[in-house]
Amino acid sequence: MASGGDDEQVPEGCNGIVVKNLYLSCDPYTRNRITKPDTGNYYVNYLKPGLPINGLGVAKVFDSGHPNFKKGDLVWGNTRWEEYSLITDFQLLFKIQHTNVPLSYYTGILGPPGLTAYSGFYEVAMLSEVLEAKKRYFPEVIDIYFENVGGKMLDAVLLNIRAHGRIAACGLISQYNLDKPEGVHNLMHLIYKRIRMEGFVVFDYFHLYPKFLEFVLPQIAEGKIAYLEDIAEGLKSGPSALVGLFSGLNVGKQVVLVAQE
Ligand SMILES: NC(=O)c1ccc[n+]([C@@H]2O[C@H](COP(=O)([O-])OP(=O)(O)OC[C@H]3O[C@@H](n4cnc5c(N)ncnc54)[C@H](OP(=O)(O)O)[C@@H]3O)[C@@H](O)[C@H]2O)c1
Repeated sequence: MASGGDDEQVPEGCNGIVVKNLYLSCDPYTRNRITKPDTGNYYVNYLKPGLPINGLGVAKVFDSGHPNFKKGDLVWGNTRWEEYSLITDFQLLFKIQHTNVPLSYYTGILGPPGLTAYSGFYEVAMLSEVLEAKKRYFPEVIDIYFENVGGKMLDAVLLNIRAHGRIAACGLISQYNLDKPEGVHNLMHLIYKRIRMEGFVVFDYFHLYPKFLEFVLPQIAEGKIAYLEDIAEGLKSGPSALVGLFSGLNVGKQVVLVAQE
């Protein structure tokens, strides 16, 4: 939906909402949604040519036909790369309750994208303490690796991880632009070292979101988390910002500013 017309109203009889998009999240998985993989079982929808990209963002309710949302509410979740969007599926749409942080944070550190930020942070804030405690009692403490890169990196991890290590396989960004994935060459180390590698999809953990906010918001308020954003201005800057992710052009979480509140 573009701005400037009746389009911005919820159609009569529809219990959807129309939102004004403020920030959009640039996420590596969008690349995978362009190329249809051989198998089903993918956890997000493919992009359809001719339709706006859908993805995560922050928006303001502009018109509402839904009893749970009113004009002016701030929301984050699934929206589209356009100025105004009609939303009728509320499975992945959350009202923003805490506005004492920059709203763009809900595209990254306070939302499901930006997993690199989470994993690094948890490692420092939580895992190191847990591991230190365990080490006192179990000298053969396991290592945990949160995999987001793939390719040669995963090969190196398999070579270097300790016996009984665990790998959470979250993303393989180094593979997304390749016509043919490189594959993993050191898989025998899974066996030699009895490693457990398991896929991780953030959507399976949304029930923990309130608990996560309770934990992370004070850390932001106390300045214990330094969070960097790279904000591209204007919807038109979206495609190049998205492509830039794959050559590391962004410094910090890549966000597109569509409109001011
Ligand atoms: N499973 C899930 O539920 C889930 C959800 C969200 C994200 N993910 C995955 O998490 C990973 C990070 O995504 P994000 O959302 O946190 O965004 P992000 O950190 O902004 O990811 C982009 C970064 O990836 C790095 N990168 C790009 N191409 C690379 C390559 N060929 N080799 C190594 N690093 C490369 C770049 O970092 P540098 O600038 O430092 O080079 C770039 O800034 C991705 O693999 C994504 O698919 C998984």
